[in-house]
Amino acid sequence: MKNLHPLVKKVLFTREDILKRTKEVTEEIERYYNLEPLADNSLLVVGLLKGCVPFYTDFCMNCNLTMEMDFMVVSSYNGGISSDLDPTVSLDLKTDVRGRDILIVEDIIDTGLTLDYVKNYLFRKGAKSVKILTMLDKPSGRRTDLVPDWSCFTIEPAFIIGYGLDYQEKIRNLPYVAICDTEKLKDWKW
Ligand code: XMP
Ligand code: MG
Repeated sequence: MKNLHPLVKKVLFTREDILKRTKEVTEEIERYYNLEPLADNSLLVVGLLKGCVPFYTDFCMNCNLTMEMDFMVVSSYNGGISSDLDPTVSLDLKTDVRGRDILIVEDIIDTGLTLDYVKNYLFRKGAKSVKILTMLDKPSGRRTDLVPDWSCFTIEPAFIIGYGLDYQEKIRNLPYVAICDTEKLKDWKW
């Protein structure tokens, strides 16, 4: 690939890889939900902003199920040492989730704490079912027993950038998933 961002150490998945795998997983998801009638005859597809955006779009545009789209922002409060304490909802859904079948779409699962929290939150609000689709899964980082229902790729521990994943809120728009060259971050200037 040409014109790689200078913070890229290694490209893990190109846009073509991601689209190909997303199509396969989307077919599995369609088969799953076609077996049982959906509440309100539609799936509520919940994206966790902002990282989900590119993958969420790929999934939804490939999926033939009748769906509604909605979004949440879930932030992890952070005492400075770790970023995975007490997730809180900083932007909530507009949709009433009572009795709904929900599919959460996420960019990456690391500790699992965010999705564990969101899943329980949606059940507390009365969701009928909550399933999880993630583009990337880093099971080595897990601190809960959370397992995604569908995952496109399982990856080794590394700091990932691109296709929704940021460094300092930037480069979410890279059209590939890459390992970040963290050596360069020490004196990195935008
Ligand atoms: P947990 O640990 O709760 O968190 O599963 C998932 C969220 O953490 C962020 N995350 C990353 N962001 N590169 C990123 O840019 C990464 O390698 C990475 N790993 C985890 C991400 O926001 C995800 O939603
Ligand atoms: Mg995220």
